[in-house]
Amino acid sequence: MGNKEILSPVELPFEEAIKIVQETLGENILKRPDLLNFRLPDGMHLSRDDEWHGEDHGVKVFGFGHANAKLELARERKLGLLDQESKDEDIIDFLGFGLALMGHDCGRFFAHEEEQHGEIGAERFELFFRNKIPDTSLEEAMHLTRKHVPPDEPLNMSRTYRYLKNADALDRTRTNDPAWTLNPDYLRDDSARLLVSIARRTNEVYYEIRGSHKDGFSAAVEALAITGLVK
Ligand SMILES: [Fe+2]
Ligand SMILES: [Fe+2]
Repeated sequence: MGNKEILSPVELPFEEAIKIVQETLGENILKRPDLLNFRLPDGMHLSRDDEWHGEDHGVKVFGFGHANAKLELARERKLGLLDQESKDEDIIDFLGFGLALMGHDCGRFFAHEEEQHGEIGAERFELFFRNKIPDTSLEEAMHLTRKHVPPDEPLNMSRTYRYLKNADALDRTRTNDPAWTLNPDYLRDDSARLLVSIARRTNEVYYEIRGSHKDGFSAAVEALAITGLVK
């Protein structure tokens, strides 16, 4: 759990939140081709069209997690916590991180199957990506996928782990079920908090347009573009 005392006390309205996010990110906003590049290979995702943990969920988690990372890096740089000359790419392995955002639930077969899907997902990364991407990126994707399943890593939480957990939580706005929907208290930093109304809007848009798209993946990409988190 993050430092609750530094979090904004209220959920910012969507228009206000997206304006801040777009102004802060500037040229760093996620580009559609970069998102499309991260689509997992055919057959890798065990429940590709599952309505809870299918590819659409991976796309939205990618959008939220990428924004969370870029916003936090910008904030830390502004506060002097990071070297002004440092590059985001030197701090985060965006290939490994992005693959984990997109594929953290690729080992999930049934929505109710909780316990093993992190480990199964990590094995699927090994199977599909070993010797195709740098080992360090593969290890990052596998580690995050394996560890994203509760119970959380209590100590030494890496920043990519934190952003993945935030983004996964933000996509809980896809349901209003009180037992399951987002509890913003569980978000781990201020930037994720800023994304709450944007995640909510993304899911509203997603369910509005899902029927007119060939699959959940493309509908989710479009929903992020309509919301303004992807250019
Ligand atoms: Fe999961
Ligand atoms: Fe997930």
